[in-house]
Amino acid sequence: MHLAVIGLGKLGCPMAALLAAAGHDVVGADLSEAVVAAVNEGRAPVDETGLADLMEQASPLLRATTSVQEAAEDAELAFCIVPTPSLADATSIRAAPSPPSKPLAVDSPARTAVGGWQC
Ligand SMILES: NC(=O)c1ccc[n+]([C@@H]2O[C@H](COP(=O)([O-])OP(=O)(O)OC[C@H]3O[C@@H](n4cnc5c(N)ncnc54)[C@H](O)[C@@H]3O)[C@@H](O)[C@H]2O)c1
Repeated sequence: MHLAVIGLGKLGCPMAALLAAAGHDVVGADLSEAVVAAVNEGRAPVDETGLADLMEQASPLLRATTSVQEAAEDAELAFCIVPTPSLADATSIRAAPSPPSKPLAVDSPARTAVGGWQC
């Protein structure tokens, strides 16, 4: 499958790498250029046990971009694994400069959920 993983942190990057190592075509997106560069160089952007080795297995089918839209445009399924809203009413997601749900909702056939939002 063509998959998108939005947010390549301590949870998202291992998940993206596992999916790619299992044979899925995965495009990850993250706001951090350093994280995106690390993934595209086959390096682990976060310190997680076993992730460095997994990145080697995943690298043929895993790439990253800073554009959520680019990651999502061909995705059949998109996973959004960004920081949890700090308030119960999701105020911090609504106030984010680049809400991940917006490009997914507008430009991608993929369906996902962000917090309590169905996109
Ligand atoms: N790490 C864990 O063990 C764990 C366990 C259970 C649940 N969670 C939940 O999983 C989610 C992610 O946790 P984490 O530990 O991976 O966080 P993290 O901070 O390690 O990673 C989040 C990543 O998302 C990126 N990001 C933030 N906003 C973005 C946006 N708008 N578009 C694209 N990228 C964006 C950040 O740059 C960062 O790299 C959180 O909701 C957390 O509560 C984490």
